Amino acid sequence: MSLPLPPGTRLPDRALWLNGRLVRGDEAALSVFDRGARDGGGLFETLRVYAGRPFAWERHMERLVLSAAELGFPVPPSPIRLRKALDQVLEACGLSDAVVRITVTRGIPGGRPVRTGAWLEAEPVAGRLWPGARRLDPEDGGPAGARAVLSRRPFIPGMLGRHKTTSRLAWDLAREEARAAGADEVLLVSPDAEVLEGSASNVFVVRAGGDVFTPPLAADVLPGVTRGVVLELCDRLGIISHQGPVPLEMLRWATEAFLTNSVQELLPLAEIAGRPVPEREVTLRLLAAYRERVAEECATRQP
Ligand SMILES: Cc1ncc(COP(=O)(O)O)c(C=O)c1O
Repeated sequence: MSLPLPPGTRLPDRALWLNGRLVRGDEAALSVFDRGARDGGGLFETLRVYAGRPFAWERHMERLVLSAAELGFPVPPSPIRLRKALDQVLEACGLSDAVVRITVTRGIPGGRPVRTGAWLEAEPVAGRLWPGARRLDPEDGGPAGARAVLSRRPFIPGMLGRHKTTSRLAWDLAREEARAAGADEVLLVSPDAEVLEGSASNVFVVRAGGDVFTPPLAADVLPGVTRGVVLELCDRLGIISHQGPVPLEMLRWATEAFLTNSVQELLPLAEIAGRPVPEREVTLRLLAAYRERVAEECATRQP
């Protein structure tokens, strides 16, 4: 049974919000009959909180709500409710820079479920950064850059690829290939030898001349929130971006490449499948613009 705790209680253990109540992490329980627990019937959002404010909150909520509707889920808690839950959990955990995960499940079958099961948890950012994001480049102060390997198994995301579901086994097994190789990420490649995305990130390639390419959503890749922000920033900075197929051989001609996700932000790729990626200028320009956007939205700048 979960233990309700008044908001604001500071806990030695992580607190989380579960179906409307603040509970201790080690006492948060999900029914074994919940379709999220049984069948991977769940959706989630992972987002970053800067100085106590979530970045791109509306975009994350929009993806969650649209996916829930498209996949016929019961109604998730309203974004206003979840936003209050987020403040409660940050307060209870004493966190202001954090990674927050919101999960909603299809609930327990039988009767007519009208609400998803839902929980929200937060943790410090440091433990979630990949080595290539955590280490800094001594020359330009940006992230040192990630190493990526190519998945050995051709990948077909299918229609679930467009949704951030908890049915993650195929992505997690691919991720194991990165772990085994001591790399930050694994790139998923279609049977037609087109690069799709990382196991937990979207991918961008920069070609000589500075044009930026990223695989299209039509390839059933996740419509990453960071991907969307980066495409807007390209427009703002006058960088020409293309959403179109990225054949594997394009990686050989890339002057730069980078990964995006809400936790790692934009992460330059220093090496792909053992080949060094020569440059990072466009990537760092976009990263600076991204951080500027974060500072505007989350007011992390000193007055
Ligand atoms: C498969 C996949 N692609 C892309 C992303 C990046 O999405 P976002 O920018 O919304 O974090 C993720 C995030 O975890 C992911 O799992």
